[in-house]
Amino acid sequence: MINGERLFLFSGEFHYYRLPSPGLWFDIAEKFKALEFNGVSFYFNWGYHSPKKGIYDFDGVRDVQKAFDAANAADLHVITRAGPYINAEVDCGGFPSWLMNMYDMARKSNPENDENSREWLDAIGKFLVPNQITNGGNVILNQIDNEYADNTDEYYMEMIKAKFKEDGMVVPTIFNDVGAPNGNWVNGPGSVDIYGWDSYPLGFDCANPTVWQNNRSTHWRDANERLNPDEPLALYEFQGGAFDPWGGPGYDACRQLVNERYAKVYYKNNYAQGATIQNLYMTYGGTSWGGLAKPSVYTSYDYGAPISEPGLMTPKGYEVKLQGTFFHSVKPFLTTEHFEPKYDNSDIILVDGLADVNTSTKFYIAQHWNTASEDLDEFHITMDTSDGKFEVPNKGKLVLNGRDAKILTSDYDFDSQHLVYSTSEIFTHQAMGSHDVMLVYAYEDEDGEFALKTPSKGDAKKIKIQTKDKSVTSSSLKKDVVQINYKHPKEGTTPIYISGAGEKDLLLLVAGYSSATRWWAPIVNPKNGDRVLIQGPYLVRSAKISTEDNSVTFSGDIDETTDIQVVVPESITSFKWNGKDIKMKPTGHGSWTGTLEFGKPQVEFTDLSKATWKYSPASPETDPDFDDSDWIKANHLKSNSVTVPDTYPILYADDYGYHTGNIWFRGTFNGTSEITGFNLTCHSGDASAWMVWLNGEYLGGYDVGNQDFTDLNGTLIDPEGKNVISILLWTTGHEDDWNADDNFKQARGFTKAELLGVNNQTIWSIDWKVQGNLGGEDLTDPVRGPYNEGGLYGERNGWHLPGFPDDEWEDVSIPETKNRTGVSWYRTSFEVTVPEGYDAPISLKFDDDTKTRYRALVFVNGWQLGRYANDLGPQTQFYLPKGILNTNSGENILAVAVIPLDEAAQIGQLTLEPYIVLKSGIPNVELVESPTYQDRTQ
Ligand code: GAL
Repeated sequence: MINGERLFLFSGEFHYYRLPSPGLWFDIAEKFKALEFNGVSFYFNWGYHSPKKGIYDFDGVRDVQKAFDAANAADLHVITRAGPYINAEVDCGGFPSWLMNMYDMARKSNPENDENSREWLDAIGKFLVPNQITNGGNVILNQIDNEYADNTDEYYMEMIKAKFKEDGMVVPTIFNDVGAPNGNWVNGPGSVDIYGWDSYPLGFDCANPTVWQNNRSTHWRDANERLNPDEPLALYEFQGGAFDPWGGPGYDACRQLVNERYAKVYYKNNYAQGATIQNLYMTYGGTSWGGLAKPSVYTSYDYGAPISEPGLMTPKGYEVKLQGTFFHSVKPFLTTEHFEPKYDNSDIILVDGLADVNTSTKFYIAQHWNTASEDLDEFHITMDTSDGKFEVPNKGKLVLNGRDAKILTSDYDFDSQHLVYSTSEIFTHQAMGSHDVMLVYAYEDEDGEFALKTPSKGDAKKIKIQTKDKSVTSSSLKKDVVQINYKHPKEGTTPIYISGAGEKDLLLLVAGYSSATRWWAPIVNPKNGDRVLIQGPYLVRSAKISTEDNSVTFSGDIDETTDIQVVVPESITSFKWNGKDIKMKPTGHGSWTGTLEFGKPQVEFTDLSKATWKYSPASPETDPDFDDSDWIKANHLKSNSVTVPDTYPILYADDYGYHTGNIWFRGTFNGTSEITGFNLTCHSGDASAWMVWLNGEYLGGYDVGNQDFTDLNGTLIDPEGKNVISILLWTTGHEDDWNADDNFKQARGFTKAELLGVNNQTIWSIDWKVQGNLGGEDLTDPVRGPYNEGGLYGERNGWHLPGFPDDEWEDVSIPETKNRTGVSWYRTSFEVTVPEGYDAPISLKFDDDTKTRYRALVFVNGWQLGRYANDLGPQTQFYLPKGILNTNSGENILAVAVIPLDEAAQIGQLTLEPYIVLKSGIPNVELVESPTYQDRTQ
């Protein structure tokens, strides 16, 4: 209950740090609202805000207050999940990289970790506390750590809780148990106020997108009754999509695996189990830009979520809207107890009963026992109502056709009507002045039966049914109950006018599934939850009624010229869409039809194949004479890493303050006639790669692991002089800390480096230097933050930044005509024009073969928005969010760093491409601050 109002907390996960454009947070929040979410769950990422111990940044793209504001503007309740540890497939699971060098264990109570954790909780608490609902904000629940189940320490949990409390957090604490109701932190020391768990029943194998690995759970209600009967059944993360690894099948496959059918079956099962808090992870996934990702995932974190990475609607998004609208409208659904209904075909079909505790309304949730069944199966339910017992349907059969689940309603007083039962699912209903409206749906061509009772002792025969659809029939089911039968139309929505049942006429709208997905029921009066109905648009963000001019104003998006139908109270006579008047024709009963014109938007963008590109070679570090005198000497003999070294000195980048992106190592040794070569063992995450040069000559590019470099005496090694090994390590982030065992402290670098052929080798046989991002933990570019820049020569010298003078560079074109050795940088400028009133999310696409293995970093206006691996894939399309991108004909700077794993690489085609063009009510998106080269060098 929030402020006395009973609700289903229907929340979606959103990570502000995965969308570096705060203006777009408002767009995403509106889309949450439009899809009927009433909550949003934010993980807060410690590492995103803290490059160094004691340093915290909440400005610009890190301004979390704006995330709260966006949620607030869309009326979303907020669940805060500030860790300190989170997971989320981010670097170190959300720990800042400087924790890599902490001696004590993380996620345990010990002086060092307590102090560090408190430092973060103190910093983030300043935003959480004032945004609590008790202080006028929208935060209602606050999570403690995440999935903390192995290697646990209750004093650590208590420490976090105490710190939050000390700082003024008063909303209930919650815990997200790992994978099932395992009972961690329900009771006793460390326990929270409202316990819950997460579940990913389909797993993450997007390569097999039709395989539903696990049946839905049928024991959660029992678990809730056993573990925490006085608390709501809370699913703090329920599978909303799936992540995809480097080399994986790509997010279209994940979208297919975790599709709208999945959403129907598994989410409805959650409701059958009694869940009243459900947070879909992810609802908008976004982008793991820069070095945000942990090694197992690539740049896009689309997640196959209900809202895609560029903010697009999806079939699952529409399905979620159908469900959310239902239980936000049909209030008895929020206060039910389970019962076992009678029904046939019960070996194949499972029907859960939910009976409202306040009224006689009952719900029947039907699904296949075998969740993955694709069969068409038929059944009847015996519905015991206050109007008598009914074998439902009276005519024909109920069906589940393939992977489907249905929530059927009986014995429900709505507006001035009394529904006896409906075999179609309810979308919503609304009293609209002189009449009532209800919209029901099912798959196209399925039969529907709708039974209504007449007012006290009325005669069903007197009920009048008016419709143009000839398939609609009506008869008396009982003296005072009318039964209406129909087919869900193949296209569009069938209106049926019913007079004489309730006090007022009822407009029953019967939709086929795909027509239903384009119905929206935006709330026009937040106080009483009144809605209006509109069908057709791609997206309806909101609606407002003005009594001054009797108008309704919709805000939304269309993807083409769209015929629309609206159903509003009769008092409404004029209509606006995104602020402009639209002409509508009345078709009776408060229904109007009209057309939203798409127009001919001139979305323009530079053709990158015709652009002038500038090129510079960019790996002088491979030259033996390169001056590395200002690099850090790798001379540590001890490390706090969990990776055990084989040789010394320690060659782990983090130990020297370099935590992200590309890292250079240079090793110098004096040649002797004995030395035949050397051996190196690279330790880094999935999809890492390293390239080696000796005295300027390329020796090879490798995956992590051990590598011998032999037979170099007599060729490359100078037996009398100085020899230089140069290594470029492409890192992919740090591991997370899933099991609370400090696994995130795994090294990024080399566990072994030794010369071959020599006896009496000492630690200092090779002198090592290491170089990462300019400044290390003392960021050169705090605006773009700790994950934006690595240690490439071009990054250290600001080549990715707007304003960098590249006039002296060579003119080239892309696709490249030359195979270039070593690292190459390319720069160009481009323009994008998206006319006002339209939205066209833009991407950069790579089109290449794999003739040479290479990786590339994409910088737009200095922001690293993509890590491309043409040897691994799967990602070839990179989202360039508006706000970072100037879409208003201004100049944008594109810099691409190409890092060959082979000796040379030749970059293929690059294209700008919109994902979609929408005529849109998108809120204004301001440009984010993008410091220039001059800002850096002044
Ligand atoms: C959950 C975890 C999330 C995320 C998810 C997979 O178990 O709590 O942080 O890692 O798995 O995407």
